[in-house]
Amino acid sequence: MRTPSTLAVAAAVVALACGPLQGALAADQKTIAKGRRLFNQNCKVCHQADAIGKPGFAPSLANPELQSMASDKFLMSTIRDGRVGTAMPPFAHLGRRNIKAIVAYLRSLVKVPNRSAEIDAEPPTKGDPDRGRILFQRICETCHGPKGDGYEAGGSGTAIGKRGFLSKASDGFIRETIKHGRSNTRMRPFGGPDGLANLNDSEIDDIIAYMRTLDNQ
Ligand code: HEC
Ligand code: HEC
Repeated sequence: MRTPSTLAVAAAVVALACGPLQGALAADQKTIAKGRRLFNQNCKVCHQADAIGKPGFAPSLANPELQSMASDKFLMSTIRDGRVGTAMPPFAHLGRRNIKAIVAYLRSLVKVPNRSAEIDAEPPTKGDPDRGRILFQRICETCHGPKGDGYEAGGSGTAIGKRGFLSKASDGFIRETIKHGRSNTRMRPFGGPDGLANLNDSEIDDIIAYMRTLDNQ
């Protein structure tokens, strides 16, 4: 007869023999379940069930473009620090492990290849902020508010002129978001002939250069 303790020893031996992969997979399901629980307790009230978001209230976190462009660092530090001057509160009190579990849960909602390393390594903008301001005022302000103040200005877009976003987003992240938009949200692709505004690469870089001068708070 096997006792529970010999079973446990056998399991440990199997885990060792199979290497870290099996352990990681087992931990993952548990981590995702924990992340879902934490999300429902702390985030669902704004980001909605399954993180689908609500226009003008909280962005979708289950969006495929966001998920493919955002690094774990972007997501984790945004959750930890929140976004000052917006409704997104800081969650540093949850601790790194719990925040990591929430990110694992968010990642489990959309299966897309993560391109963040490549995107964050894109060259920084060399655009002209004055030209960018004119484009920003013409195209972006209706949704993102004057100076990118976000929802508090009454639009549907987030606070892209505030430090909470700007301090964590690379130029590549902003560039690719403008080019490709976020599907099923009001953030349309603005780049190229298929885009809403047919912005070319240098105009997009002008807009980023202008956004970098904002840093409202
Ligand atoms: C028709 C409304 C609309 C317009 C016009 C618009 N956006 Fe957006 N934008 C949004 C929305 C809505 C989101 C957030 C998506 C969501 O709610 O899930 C967003 C998200 C973004 C993000 C990601 C921000 C974050 O918090 O991660 C960036 C960057 C961005 N927009 C830049 C721009 C720029 C630059 C322009 C002008 C070229 C622009 N947007 C024009 C609606 C708009
Ligand atoms: C009181 C409402 C509220 C709660 C609760 C909340 N958020 Fe947010 N969250 C927001 C708003 C509003 C924004 C957009 C802020 C802006 O305008 O930049 C946001 C933005 C974000 C972003 C950036 C998304 C992007 O498109 O760049 C992430 C990631 C995020 N929240 C994760 C979470 C997580 C995880 C939790 C729970 C631990 C949470 N939020 C709880 C309101 C909330």
